[in-house]
Amino acid sequence: MKPRLTVVSQKAAPDVRSPILEVRSLTKVFRSAHAPVKVLADIDIAAAAGELICILGPSGCGKSTLLKILSGFIRPSAGEMRLNNRPITRPGPDRCVVFQEDALFPWLTVAENIAFGLRGKMKDRKAARQEVDRFLSLVGLTAYRDYLPREISGGMKQRVALARVLILQPQVLLMDEPFASLDALAREEMQNLLLSLWDQLSHTILFVTHDVVEAATLADRILVMDKNPGHICAEIPVTPDRPRRQDEPGFIRFCRTLHDGLRGGFSERNFPGWP
Ligand SMILES: Nc1ncnc2c1ncn2[C@@H]1O[C@H](COP(=O)(O)OP(=O)(O)O)[C@@H](O)[C@H]1O
Ligand SMILES: [Mg+2]
Repeated sequence: MKPRLTVVSQKAAPDVRSPILEVRSLTKVFRSAHAPVKVLADIDIAAAAGELICILGPSGCGKSTLLKILSGFIRPSAGEMRLNNRPITRPGPDRCVVFQEDALFPWLTVAENIAFGLRGKMKDRKAARQEVDRFLSLVGLTAYRDYLPREISGGMKQRVALARVLILQPQVLLMDEPFASLDALAREEMQNLLLSLWDQLSHTILFVTHDVVEAATLADRILVMDKNPGHICAEIPVTPDRPRRQDEPGFIRFCRTLHDGLRGGFSERNFPGWP
């Protein structure tokens, strides 16, 4: 296993001295009918409260498997995971997941979909309604509260998916290529919306993507994964202020280097950092 490369940029890295989410030596082996397949090997992650980490890697490197393990839906073969110093052993309300194609309930309206998770949680119906209104407004869907999922666009559906988990106030938001199926314009809108919600609500976010521009736009820090078996090969702090202009020479250079790195492996020599 190659040692993980940390690329040093000019500004200070996010403060991870007291992480809320810690993953140590996480390994996953799937036992198929033929032979066991190691999909993740020795994954280490330490996420600070309120940090936005992008996990960038090619298809098949184990990104979704990693998120499923962190969400508690599948068990790791070895290793440790802790949130607020407590072991993660099962799904919990402190972690919520948003997938690429989020299945909304097709027979419920936008507002009812967002309210769904609050059932049984908030006894006070008026307070629950106010909370739904707040999240409808946060994701810009107040005017669409009574629409059904089939009556709104893909981007709007992902807004509903986001509001539906954010209303549960998870500490950690796990996002698995949530905007990958949207067109370029809708994707950019969703990225801006996510940054604005993150600014207001201060979640810790682990955002999986295979898109270098998306990672460079969003992240405080990028964990680059490689495959066979899936491992983290580079850790890159991204310090420029947001919003980051995608047409700036520094941004374009950074993305090109990330792209080349994904294809040919990372080395400190070929990585100029940014800005
Ligand atoms: N339940 C499973 N059983 C066996 N192999 C699996 C299972 N889930 C995923 N894999 C394999 O693990 C590897 C990583 O998959 P995945 O986590 O979906 O990668 P990514 O999300 O990065 O594209 C792939 O080779 C995939 O075939
Ligand atoms: Mg995946």
